[in-house]
Amino acid sequence: MLTVRAPATSANLGSGFDVFGAALSRPADVLRVSEADRTTISVTGAGSQYIPEDPEKNTVGAVAEALDAPAHIEIDKGVRPASGLGSSAASAAAAAVGLNELYERGYSRAELVPMAAEGEAVVSGDAHADNVAPAILGGFTIATPEGVTRVDAGVPLVACLPEVVVSTRDARRVVPAGATIEEVVETVGCAATLVVGMCRDDPALVGRGMADAVVTPARAALIEGYETVHTAALGAGATGVTVSGAGPTVVAACRESDRRAVAATMVEAFADAGVESRAYQTRVGRGATVH
Ligand code: HSE
Repeated sequence: MLTVRAPATSANLGSGFDVFGAALSRPADVLRVSEADRTTISVTGAGSQYIPEDPEKNTVGAVAEALDAPAHIEIDKGVRPASGLGSSAASAAAAAVGLNELYERGYSRAELVPMAAEGEAVVSGDAHADNVAPAILGGFTIATPEGVTRVDAGVPLVACLPEVVVSTRDARRVVPAGATIEEVVETVGCAATLVVGMCRDDPALVGRGMADAVVTPARAALIEGYETVHTAALGAGATGVTVSGAGPTVVAACRESDRRAVAATMVEAFADAGVESRAYQTRVGRGATVH
């Protein structure tokens, strides 16, 4: 039997829609995998009541199939589903890393990324690697159809998860069909700034590079209290604030010394808007680890 911990992730980071992703030091899913003749799944933890245990309908079942690695898989969810924190990607990543090791399949971490992404696609219909890449590889990742580039980073972040529901379908439906050349120029500038910020572990550059005038404003409108939280977080020292993945989590970059205050301020601001939330004080962290 093996135990694998795979982290929550934050995709997009504003200017990198469907491309950027970062592993978070917390929260995380923990999976226990043991060899079996056929795959069975049990799920406990955050939001487990919404997650199917049928291997045909669960992302880890699809990963076990792809690796030809039937197993009993116990999933302890630390990452709530539909949070914008890569919940299904965390489970898929943990299953890919754990089953690869359990059955000594010998795939590299990079080779496991498309397998976990395909596993996710079987269940969610969409094979974006922007969450599974950082969940497997750790750090900050740039996922394109040509492959994944990663850098080690440790920028402090706050991920504030409100008790509101945003369907991924709605969040994708509101993405504008096009952008003006001015918006493209601005986005390229921000994305480049964010990448340099990650390479230098510089929260000021990362925060500045999170700005995005194309996708984020449309999605922010789906999150009650977003504008209040955005303004309050910047006032408390955040260097940048945006929607995490498809939402509803709001993610802020900041200096370590400001992180506690930023977290408390974001929770208060959501409360002012009548929305309960919890804030994870986190940072860009490691990928899946086997224990
Ligand atoms: N990048 C996706 C989106 C989420 O923002 O819809 C994660 O795949």
